[in-house]
Amino acid sequence: MSERSWALLGVASLSLLAAGCGAERGGEPAAPDTWGEPTAALDTNPDPEVVEVDLEAREVEKTYLEGTTTTVWSYNGTVPGPLIEANLGDTLIVHFKNSLPEETTIHWHGIRVPNEMDGVMAVQAPIAPGETFTYRFTLRDAGFYWFHPHVMEPEQIQKGLFGLIRVRGPNEPEADDERIVVLGDVLLNEDGSFNEELDDDMIMMGREGNVVLVNGRTMPALEVRPGALTRLRIVNVANGRFFNLALPGHAFRVIGTDGGLIPEPYDAERLLISPGERYDVLLMAQGEPGTELTLMNEPYERGHHTGHADPMPLATVRIGQGPGLSGRALPETGPAIERLPGGPAEATITFDEQYVDGKLMFLIDGKAFPDVPPIEVESGSVHIYDLKNDAEMDHPFHLHGFFFQVLARDGVPVAEEELANKDTVILPQRSTVRIVTRFDAPGMWMYHCHILEHTEGGMMGEIHVAP
Ligand code: C2O
Ligand code: CU
Ligand code: CU
Repeated sequence: MSERSWALLGVASLSLLAAGCGAERGGEPAAPDTWGEPTAALDTNPDPEVVEVDLEAREVEKTYLEGTTTTVWSYNGTVPGPLIEANLGDTLIVHFKNSLPEETTIHWHGIRVPNEMDGVMAVQAPIAPGETFTYRFTLRDAGFYWFHPHVMEPEQIQKGLFGLIRVRGPNEPEADDERIVVLGDVLLNEDGSFNEELDDDMIMMGREGNVVLVNGRTMPALEVRPGALTRLRIVNVANGRFFNLALPGHAFRVIGTDGGLIPEPYDAERLLISPGERYDVLLMAQGEPGTELTLMNEPYERGHHTGHADPMPLATVRIGQGPGLSGRALPETGPAIERLPGGPAEATITFDEQYVDGKLMFLIDGKAFPDVPPIEVESGSVHIYDLKNDAEMDHPFHLHGFFFQVLARDGVPVAEEELANKDTVILPQRSTVRIVTRFDAPGMWMYHCHILEHTEGGMMGEIHVAP
């Protein structure tokens, strides 16, 4: 079978082979539970308001496909990388060492950091193999964030460089259990090695792997207690794959997203999550003890007939035996957040793709990074933009350094319950999303499509925030 047709068969056949796999060798031991919760990073600082962790990027062997090993790139020996736990207002200090054969940086996706800590090339020299760098900043927002390199993103992230940060605030909702859900995928050859070739489809749509992973595993099982309210913090770390989650017979009560809790929780039967986005949901699994439910990835049309894919099982949700819990109520309200002003857009930023000299390029206002003219604003100013997607595919728009709020879609104001601080939002194909942001920190900030092959292909620009 050719490489190509093998890859096409990929998802189903490899996932079967892969069932039950996902352990690292030579790294930290995987958590004993079948859900594969990321390992908490060790805080070496006794000050309760300072979280200080060591982080090392290094190669490690992991088994994704039974009988094979994959050389992955890890933070501290695990994929997903460690979970950094902190409280709102804490100072985070990360002593980073690059033990990889290639230069790298760390970007703190969604965290409002000072510009020089943002991990992009414009503000820091890449950290060479063997070198170290200390990241230090204050955690200004409670929520669920992730970190990843900002050099060679498509290669380094798919190889396993991503970790999690959970920042707790004073308004955490009540839940019986809390779990982390890291959605991703890898594109592997039959021998377990990464397939790093990009075919035309992957250049166009972003690379989708042939092994789909939850917490670095295929089909892990989440055990929930009968009647328990389980809080799930969900992130999509895939290069290009969108996840459209469904748990038959159940709804997810959405209580938060990228930038923390939202004032008006709502129920979603499908949870569509593009690369980079996060959702914070509560789930009360219904059924007799012993019931097994399957968390599904339902097809979603993000362009070029991707909606014709088959539904795909991702994980098992098993209702455990234990004593039934009395059943907490699902929250109807969340903490208030400041609503930024609405109004007409001052500018339209257009996203599209085009063949330039026979090569498919992803463009912003007709230009590819680094030629996209920077947006110039002043620190503290509020701006409204129309993000216009002229392409026949969705682009997940991501902004560094600031949250934004969605005001309207195709001119129609969004529902009240959509008030949320976002750092990544899907721009559906051939549509316009209006956003508002307050640029309250000076520096040079990036915005880009979070389909990593599109970032690479030019769909990235800069915002210069003058002091
Ligand atoms: Cu998560 Cu510039 O990215
Ligand atoms: Cu980011
Ligand atoms: Cu894109």
